[in-house]
Amino acid sequence: MSFTADKLLLFGATGDLSQRMLLPSLCALHADALVPEKLGIIGTARSDLDDDGFRNFAADALGKFLPDYRKGAIPGFLQRLTYQALDANQTAQFADLAAKVGPRQDGLAIFLSTAPSLFEPTIAGLQASGLADETSRIGLEKPLGTDLDTSRHINDAVASAFPEDRIFRIDHYLGKETVQNLMALRFANILFEPIWNSHYIEHVQITVAETVGLEGRVGFYDGAGALRDMVQNHMLQLLALVAMEPPSRFDPAAIRGEKTKVLRSLRTVAAGDTVTGQYRAGAINGASVPGYADELGQPSATETFVAIKAHIDNWRWKGVPFYLRTGKRLPKRTTEIVVQFRPVPHSMFAQRGAIAQPNRLVIGIQPEENITFTTNAKVPGLDRGGLRLREVPLDISMEDAFAGPTKRIAYERLLLDLIEGDQTLFVRRDEVEAQWAWIDGVRKVWTDNGITPNPYGAGSWGPTAAIALAAKDGVAWHE
Ligand code: BG6
Repeated sequence: MSFTADKLLLFGATGDLSQRMLLPSLCALHADALVPEKLGIIGTARSDLDDDGFRNFAADALGKFLPDYRKGAIPGFLQRLTYQALDANQTAQFADLAAKVGPRQDGLAIFLSTAPSLFEPTIAGLQASGLADETSRIGLEKPLGTDLDTSRHINDAVASAFPEDRIFRIDHYLGKETVQNLMALRFANILFEPIWNSHYIEHVQITVAETVGLEGRVGFYDGAGALRDMVQNHMLQLLALVAMEPPSRFDPAAIRGEKTKVLRSLRTVAAGDTVTGQYRAGAINGASVPGYADELGQPSATETFVAIKAHIDNWRWKGVPFYLRTGKRLPKRTTEIVVQFRPVPHSMFAQRGAIAQPNRLVIGIQPEENITFTTNAKVPGLDRGGLRLREVPLDISMEDAFAGPTKRIAYERLLLDLIEGDQTLFVRRDEVEAQWAWIDGVRKVWTDNGITPNPYGAGSWGPTAAIALAAKDGVAWHE
């Protein structure tokens, strides 16, 4: 049902995500008058706060995490906030929460940013208190399970209270501007689509490299690891957007349907096509950092790095490897997609001793948003020493091309879509389950073959085995 919510109920309102992302995003939307003027935001968490206590809490967080030019909007934004303390395991307490939410004219958007163990009791409480009725929708922050079974379990619990068209599963990568721009690049330009297939593309690389380590998320990260924390969601979404067929319509059903088909076509990974790693002590940007086990305070078999050679078994992508890698404590923070094209079928330049390098498209997602297409150009001159070709980039810097518009963080977009009820950038149940099914296959291969993390020094590009994974196909990771 379509409605723009006039109440937003935020579970986990005093948590880390809320401080760093949710409250700043909501304040930015408020500052630009993008949310309804009457939108009330009710925070809830275990912390024993009253409305003023929560406003002070929010003011602190916004002081830290909102860019300076936005700070003038803080006092007005705080007026939207109220708070109700709640132990989500106590169903009876939801009656007080419902009273705090009060009547709603248009509808209620609920956002769950809590430990997954609280999902089920929260759903039960929402149902018991009447907060889960046909005028409410729910947004769910990851992790949605640790494997296909647990994910189904959560999905079933949520489905008992909300129909799929009112469930909004977040993958914050879909809120990133350049990720959405992938669709514009592919489907708003005539240039790429005719050659976007195995006849012309040799392989694809997707890298999500981070310099950060555990960041204090001891409990969560060690139980998840890089595969479940990054590949299951963000990287598979990037892969699906690169590989999907052109959707016929710009709507949730068409786009999510095409992504799901790709995810379902992923081949079970072979043991030789996956490498895992765990960082040891090293240096990032010249500063020494401890190893993972030291940060954690105990030895662990959790992977902080993973590289996979994936295959999509369908007509378009037959024989085209998708090399994926992600890791913590790598030398720089970068997310990029590299589309490596095949060589020209016949190069007359070879006769003159010149080599035409195969074209390459590099889509930089962060920190810089840019698109670079490398072409071959003749080096100017009379060619007395022989004709020379050189790779020359055709560069588009999104930041230069679009200097005007405000740079928005992913959660601004996603929270607004949740409030307004647009599911296009949220993950559908069958999609998330297809992702988990493939990830479970990878983990099974690790277990069956005794694959354990190889050490790598913090500040390196991961274990040498990851370099070998690509090198044995004659491929070098793009750096
Ligand atoms: C989160 C992961 O989903 O994404 C984190 O849990 C990771 O471990 C983060 O650091 C990366 O997000 P971004 O937007 O900084 O690339």
